[in-house]
Amino acid sequence: MGPQVSCRLEPSPFEREGPTGFSVKISTPDSMSTVAIDLADVKKSYGDRSVVDGLSFTVAAGECFGLLGPNGAGKSTITRMILGMTTPSTGEITVLGVPVPARARLARMGIGVVPQFDNLDLEFTVRENLLVFGRYFRMSKNEIEAIIPSLLEFARLESKADARVVDLSGGMRRRLTLARALINDPQLLILDEPTTGLDPHARHLIWERLRSLLARGKTILLTTHIMEEAERLCDRLCVLEEGRKIAEGRPQELIDEQIGCQVIEVYGGNPHELSALVSSYARHIEVSGETLFCYAPDPEQVRVQLDGRAGLRILQRAPNLEDVFLRLTGRELKD
Ligand SMILES: Nc1ncnc2c1ncn2[C@@H]1O[C@H](COP(=O)(O)OP(=O)(O)OP(=O)(O)O)[C@@H](O)[C@H]1O
Ligand SMILES: [Mg+2]
Repeated sequence: MGPQVSCRLEPSPFEREGPTGFSVKISTPDSMSTVAIDLADVKKSYGDRSVVDGLSFTVAAGECFGLLGPNGAGKSTITRMILGMTTPSTGEITVLGVPVPARARLARMGIGVVPQFDNLDLEFTVRENLLVFGRYFRMSKNEIEAIIPSLLEFARLESKADARVVDLSGGMRRRLTLARALINDPQLLILDEPTTGLDPHARHLIWERLRSLLARGKTILLTTHIMEEAERLCDRLCVLEEGRKIAEGRPQELIDEQIGCQVIEVYGGNPHELSALVSSYARHIEVSGETLFCYAPDPEQVRVQLDGRAGLRILQRAPNLEDVFLRLTGRELKD
């Protein structure tokens, strides 16, 4: 039996704009715009609680822009405002050349979305989920069926076309959500933690797929807690804390600016005692749990101080984006 697509159509988050809207082929917003997303002094409050506070940034067409920040920093709220699903308290948002939320439906015609939490129809098959979603864009059944094989191949789900989503692994579901986001051949992808909870194989596959989309000229706005993901994929990043931008730049620029020297991690001793021992040779020192992080312009001098002390494990490495994140947002748990 074929999928019951018609019963899933309302309410559609991707309704076309007005009865005089578009022909069957999906019309998209301004495909020539060199700016994919522009936020100008955007604020969002719930009651008297400010969750996004005067945020401005611009995402150029074709770039991968990352939003980083601790839990509750406002990343998902920002993605929802860009989609027109949450209305900002004040400020201006332009997406693919059109104002949002005023013309959000038109903007969404050119956007593919991977929400933070999968919202697939669990009882439907993989193919049925794609059919239902394509119908939100007013694509015909034939149009959708014509592109399903390429979407399944993209997501490496060819053998699962007729499997119910409830029977798929978490990685497969995430890949299906990504495939689903591509059904309208969007110019812009908004991915809210696309690989959280996935095993390394699934994660690497998705990274490879996202890179191939960037190579095809797509624009990506990505939120993530996985610093390796941000470092590998993002051209530029914006680090948020409590709804405010605390840093913006290219990953390597941020690493150079914020850290700019080797990092020595020391485990196994009393980190506070060790800290006193090496502090005069470090640019900066942090203790997190049982680990001492020592940012050292001259790592040899630090190592000499620690030489001969029993039970220590010492790791010297290049600085990375996780150091930047923790430096900017602190090593304490944020909730
Ligand atoms: N509808 C809502 N009503 C009230 N508060 C909300 C609502 N949506 C979000 N918030 C609050 O806004 C803040 C930002 O939430 P948001 O989900 O945007 O954070 P996030 O950066 O995506 O976090 P995470 O990394 O955990 O996904 C949180 O404190 C959250 O509780
Ligand atoms: Mg979130």
